[in-house]
Amino acid sequence: MTDQPKSANTMWGGRFAAGPDAIMEAINASIGFDRRLYAQDIRGSRAHAAMLAAQGIISTNDAEAIREGLLTVLSEIEGGNFTFRTDLEDIHMNVEARLKEIIGEPAGRLHTARSRNDQVATDFRLWVRDQCDAADGGLRALIGALLMQADAGADWVMPGFTHLQTAQPVTWGHHMMAYVEMFGRDLGRFADARRRMNESPLGAAALAGTGFAIDREATAHALDFDRPMANSLDAVSDRDFALEFLSAAAICAVHLSRLAEELVIWSSAQFRFVAMSDRFSTGSSIMPQKKNPDAAELIRAKIGRILGATVALFTVMKGLPLAYSKDMQEDKEQVFDAADSLMLALAAMEGMMRDLSARPEVLEAAASSGFSTATDLADWLVREAGLPFREAHHVTGALVAKAEKAGVDLPDLTLAEMQSVNPAITQEIYGVLGVHNSVASRISYGGTAPVRVREQIARWKKALAG
Ligand code: ARG
Repeated sequence: MTDQPKSANTMWGGRFAAGPDAIMEAINASIGFDRRLYAQDIRGSRAHAAMLAAQGIISTNDAEAIREGLLTVLSEIEGGNFTFRTDLEDIHMNVEARLKEIIGEPAGRLHTARSRNDQVATDFRLWVRDQCDAADGGLRALIGALLMQADAGADWVMPGFTHLQTAQPVTWGHHMMAYVEMFGRDLGRFADARRRMNESPLGAAALAGTGFAIDREATAHALDFDRPMANSLDAVSDRDFALEFLSAAAICAVHLSRLAEELVIWSSAQFRFVAMSDRFSTGSSIMPQKKNPDAAELIRAKIGRILGATVALFTVMKGLPLAYSKDMQEDKEQVFDAADSLMLALAAMEGMMRDLSARPEVLEAAASSGFSTATDLADWLVREAGLPFREAHHVTGALVAKAEKAGVDLPDLTLAEMQSVNPAITQEIYGVLGVHNSVASRISYGGTAPVRVREQIARWKKALAG
């Protein structure tokens, strides 16, 4: 090493006579972004060094020096006193080079029976695993806010829509609980991904394993992995754990985006279903009357970045032969950005939902218009007058047309007017035309009736507490 020209890389420059071109250095270096892995990198190195000493591969003195030195590096980075060097490419070599400056020769023994290939795979798994936990926390908090809303308005009536046209009355609580179900499945997806990714690549070395008598169970255990990965080629070359995280994040972002879209619509002057808090709205610099739902709009847009990252990493991985290729260095920025976007969107949505005030009277007025109980009328004709559903549908259609022509709602038609369309109709019909009657009648499992909604709220509260 000593007779190398100064500019050759001291980590791998043994066979190089000259250092890299500046452009080569620029395209090759990942330190600009993978410095985010410093804590995982140092944790992995400490576990590796301790294992090497326990196996008699390095001395306990060297292991102790490495341990102390790594802790110094950690505090330098955390204290902002660390100089990251692009010529040292990545976080792994930056940490090791600094360790050498601090402890000297023993630093060179840390990389025994290890490669940057299993090192980066380990660091990245640890990082993505933490993000699964962060997503879990963010989702639980958001679900908590939705349950609060559902609890408050389990029996508030609002229009349920299909095609964004008034369809049938539903309850506010039921609408909130629909999102609880979606975010609940997101929780499950992150948990599944975490369980599958929780195996240790460390000790796979460059690609083929190592001849040193390492103990992969020990390092796996030290890093809270369930077990070492069973195939060294797979360990260094797959990034499916990151793809699973991104996929779960993309689905979750779709759910967030749909809820955000509803908030944008509902808070508009045309709907007025909800009022957003000042804390999660902005004003216009020119139109003094405006209160804009910017947070909701930005959450709605985050899916673009997250899905973009997902597509990008799938594309990077799709044609790579085993095992490691440098292409895989392009995995990190995508995942970092997607994870940051998701956590921020979850937190912003939680805040918005906690602060949101629905307007029950506006919801109910909207639910009562648009002939939203026409299905209840048709169902009554089936149940009480024995009409086949298709015929009942036809009769109801005629009644809707009559009401529309007269400029009134269904309950405003007189009994005589109703009977002129179908003589089987009796006074009882008015009992099913109110929106409260309508939602209360929908007691099928999973239906919108307040009793059913309250059961679901209770089930979720219990599930989240347990
Ligand atoms: N910075 C690299 C990455 O992120 C680390 C692994 C480098 N391995 C190698 N054989 N050059 O992928």
